[in-house]
Amino acid sequence: MPDKDPRRSRESFNTVAELYARYRPGYPEAVVEDVVRSAEISPGSRVLEIGCGAGQLSVPLAERGAELQAVELGADLARIARRRLAPFPTAKVHVAAFESWPLPQEPFDAVVCANAFHWLDPDVRFAQAAAALRPGGRLAIVAPHHVRGDDPGFFRQTNRCYVRWGLGDDPEWLPPTAEELSPDYPEIADCPAFGSVERHRLEAVRRFTTESYIGMLRTDSLIIGMEPREREGFLADLSAVIDRSCGGEVLWHQVYGVLAAVRQ
Ligand SMILES: C[S@@+](CC[C@H](N)C(=O)[O-])C[C@H]1O[C@@H](n2cnc3c(N)ncnc32)[C@H](O)[C@@H]1O
Repeated sequence: MPDKDPRRSRESFNTVAELYARYRPGYPEAVVEDVVRSAEISPGSRVLEIGCGAGQLSVPLAERGAELQAVELGADLARIARRRLAPFPTAKVHVAAFESWPLPQEPFDAVVCANAFHWLDPDVRFAQAAAALRPGGRLAIVAPHHVRGDDPGFFRQTNRCYVRWGLGDDPEWLPPTAEELSPDYPEIADCPAFGSVERHRLEAVRRFTTESYIGMLRTDSLIIGMEPREREGFLADLSAVIDRSCGGEVLWHQVYGVLAAVRQ
């Protein structure tokens, strides 16, 4: 819903659930550790995860002993997350929109959300997260950003495909540098329910082959929203450019913003 490009939708991910499980990378160890530390998660902590997808963050949190419950909009994604969480008998995945999910009576020690908070209703998301937490509990939000990195050559090569297939209009487009990123969710400063806001940034480079990059793009809401023939045309075009001009390899520079706040 709140994403600005009308071609994107929050329901789209569930339509490619198996691809999502296969091609979306998990989180680097340093990001998981930062979430665990910032949200004060320890064995036995009651943790609620919003929008767990196929369980990319859920599994490492459960491995660290979190008593995990997750709320996921997509039934097929929830089924995959449940399958991956099967070794953790106390883990539960509920299929619902977080905004209207009836909160259990016992509050949570931590609420975490990785790459999904931007899909939630901005008028409800902080209030509902606050209502789910005990006083002193922590909210931790992970916001991944694609940044420029050292070599803009990849964008110079591939922008033409985006322009050709109506997905962009600037052949010179570059993502922001890490320094140009603005803080995630600045409006938390106006939420009296949350205080002691901490912000961390972690950088990582993800390496893809042409096949794994195209697979990952198939899970991008913008690409999912294309007409099937257009999508296949665009992906074939892009794949040829990556093979021909980038040696069949893509290096993706990511900045993971981790925002943590204490429930007052
Ligand atoms: C980009 S995916 C991120 C999934 C996973 N957390 C990850 O990091 O890979 C966004 C997820 O949020 C879920 N989602 C979107 N809106 C939601 C809502 N209102 N309540 C619960 N889940 C939601 C989507 O179904 C999708 O699984």
